[in-house]
Amino acid sequence: MWGGRFADGPSAIMREINASIPFDKALWRQDIAASRAHVAMLAACDIVTDDDAETIIDGLEKIAAEYEADGVPENWDLEDIHMTTEARLAELIGPVAGRLHTARSRNDQVATDFRLWTRDTIDQTLAGLQALQCALVSRADEHSGSIMPGFTHLQTAQPVTLGHHLMAYYEMVSRDVARFTEARARLNQSPLGSAALAGTGFPIDREMTAQALGFDAPTANSLDAVSDRDFALDFLAAASQCALHLSRLAEEFVIWASQPFGFVRMPDALSTGSSIMPQKKNPDAAELVRGHAGRIVGCHTALMVTMKGLPLAYSKDMQDDKPPVFEAAGLLQLCIAAMTGMVDGADFRTERMRQAAELGYATATDLADWLVREADIPFREAHHITGAAVKLAESKGAALDELSLTELQDIDARIDDRVYSALSVEASVAARASYGGTAPDQVRKQVAKARQKLGMD
Ligand code: ARG
Repeated sequence: MWGGRFADGPSAIMREINASIPFDKALWRQDIAASRAHVAMLAACDIVTDDDAETIIDGLEKIAAEYEADGVPENWDLEDIHMTTEARLAELIGPVAGRLHTARSRNDQVATDFRLWTRDTIDQTLAGLQALQCALVSRADEHSGSIMPGFTHLQTAQPVTLGHHLMAYYEMVSRDVARFTEARARLNQSPLGSAALAGTGFPIDREMTAQALGFDAPTANSLDAVSDRDFALDFLAAASQCALHLSRLAEEFVIWASQPFGFVRMPDALSTGSSIMPQKKNPDAAELVRGHAGRIVGCHTALMVTMKGLPLAYSKDMQDDKPPVFEAAGLLQLCIAAMTGMVDGADFRTERMRQAAELGYATATDLADWLVREADIPFREAHHITGAAVKLAESKGAALDELSLTELQDIDARIDDRVYSALSVEASVAARASYGGTAPDQVRKQVAKARQKLGMD
């Protein structure tokens, strides 16, 4: 393809290090779509004849059918998907195939293909995230009143509802959806027609190819267009953030499924056993989501570092942009599907959760708040009094509301028997009815909003 200038062919090592066909064959659909749009435009602008364009399009269709049926052949001599397809086109239709590359370079071609591929991947990711959101919201709906301990430092803090906890992840995933949506909007400009780096002298119509490929507009600067990989980094940044969220949820499941917690039984379909310990049911899928998040972040880092020192315009380093994006995209889709399955299929042990909330002095803040409200004690002093009550209860191995009124009044005489109504976990969650709080009514409001947004009703 460029042999004219060379006396010798490439060495075996050159061929191997240069070949991107082993991975960029994944771009074949986008490559053929972009070539079709390009040649149709060349004909419309009288740069090639209608007959030649038709012959080329027929050839491209045949190649698409071959790839679909048999896969893309991997010949390192042909370097990449662009040359593989063009070489096959020449076999099928002869020298006319050579007209396809008029007013085009592999530099704008690969930039276009890769944007199209990333756009498709974002759409698939968004569909997956929507399913995950629906799963979170349905389970939150079911458990808007199920009480569990809320934690800070993984120490029992205040009672919350399981629905509230699940809706926290719904919020995170909603921000991920926004990030992918914004990345898609920024990505959606067509580099095609930027040619190698400087544009082209042929009278092409870049609006036409942009429109044919579903882009909003052509890119404005040819140097930028062939060397910009922000769109891939935007995708990887959104993927990394999303993977972190999934990993945190996975970690909750790992903790909750452990025997000392016992808050959840994981679905069999997403667990594994042990070859030696017959009692085991391990949350492997959750652990792998946690593990894969590390790999996804690694992919993001890899491409950032690849790009950081590159002068304009194209350098071959940029061929290395695809493996991390492909890898991260595949891993993320698996992680989203696995988490959706876990959320859907989790058997939440609400009795255990409730007991844990009761045993951990989770309503101590409610006692302090009661002292402030009913006895007009400054919060800091109320905090101190409550600390003494917890200390006493702990020494007796009792819950706060198991202390007698005399015991409480010995700590502070201003306490009276109305305090008991504030000490139950139900009262505690019901009291936290501030906007966005854990009170079942608040959770149901957020669930209703989410259901509407997701079109679940
Ligand atoms: N395989 C190359 C890539 O993925 C295509 C662009 C090649 N351009 C070039 N000037 N060698 O980046």
